[in-house]
Amino acid sequence: MNAPVHERSSCPFDAETLASFQAPIEEGRGLPNRCYTDPAWLKLENERLFARTWMLAGFQHDVPGKGDACPVELAGMPLLLLRDHAGDIRVFHNVCRHRGAVIVPERCTGRKVLTCPYHAWAYGLDGSLRTRPHFFGGDRHDTNPGPDAPGLLPVRHAVWNDLVFVDLSGEAPEFESHWEPFVRRTRDYDFSALRYATTLEFDVKGNWKLILENFFDAYHVPAVHPKLEEFAPIHTRIGTQTDGVWFHNTNPITEPQEGRGLGMPCYPGLDEIGRRTEWYFHLFPTTLFEIWPDQMAVFQLHALEPGRTIEKIHMYFIGEGATDPAFEKQRQDVYSMWQELNTEDFRIVENMQRARVSPGFDGGVLSPFWDPATQHFARLMAEAMTG
Ligand code: FES
Ligand SMILES: [Fe+2]
Repeated sequence: MNAPVHERSSCPFDAETLASFQAPIEEGRGLPNRCYTDPAWLKLENERLFARTWMLAGFQHDVPGKGDACPVELAGMPLLLLRDHAGDIRVFHNVCRHRGAVIVPERCTGRKVLTCPYHAWAYGLDGSLRTRPHFFGGDRHDTNPGPDAPGLLPVRHAVWNDLVFVDLSGEAPEFESHWEPFVRRTRDYDFSALRYATTLEFDVKGNWKLILENFFDAYHVPAVHPKLEEFAPIHTRIGTQTDGVWFHNTNPITEPQEGRGLGMPCYPGLDEIGRRTEWYFHLFPTTLFEIWPDQMAVFQLHALEPGRTIEKIHMYFIGEGATDPAFEKQRQDVYSMWQELNTEDFRIVENMQRARVSPGFDGGVLSPFWDPATQHFARLMAEAMTG
């Protein structure tokens, strides 16, 4: 696994490593060390992975009113999420067509046009160029650049409830087919009842993939999460299942407790089985969903450096559960639960990041019961990173 990172069309894995991703689990391996530590690898992930599939980019609640705009960054690129005059969401590359300044460096509200901070070219909320002051010399403005003038470049996007996904390449499969395995498994949940409450943010000294691999690793619970183990013991757990770009698993909720399904409004119409089930989903590559009878936690990972990731947990509750002061204590219990669980997880993620330079590990040895998802993840990475 010492091959250098090559051209766009090449495969960054050697043949032996690729074969280990396809091998029976007993001979299989996970991703080798360099995938977690090499800045060139992260650059390649930005180009080949994050820029070529559907990625969670932002939220409708970031731009609640017409003319609201919010800069976001994805795959190392500045993007702009906005709500146009008709109330629709639009996404653009957040860069001026003149000299390439970032058009909207900070969130803003109620704009009629977006004015570049450098030479004040103004763009409409549909991305079209409207005016170019002093373009032909002092006081000689271009007030009607016309439809062929260079407007903001649009980015393909899709909206699901509050979530806005983008496909930077414009060539990923249709969002509906990408999303379908989730829809199929969650038909009993009326997600339209979800209301955004808050976002918890963590700065983790670990590679984004270690956070994910830990997320769908149900094997670590007894050693890392003593309270969770008490709540849902390992003999009730199974290894995470996979379905294309989706990873999924469930736990039975035998006895709801504070922060874990107790005392909050549930999804309307949810049956008794749903009220006793916790689902977790991972949408390759960087989005995670935890669905409880009374909430949905949306995890969003942002890879800053090979060894540093920002994890945000966007918290949604059902109806008034999100905002009513009567549920403040229950909400705080949920946040404390996530804080505690994540602190336990990050300790082990940061531990593993430190060890990813060691010749004592280069893909590891996998458990046939717990680790097929880890090998599947490696296969998806190989697929995405090749060509
Ligand atoms: S760079 Fe935007 S107006 Fe010049
Ligand atoms: Fe964990």
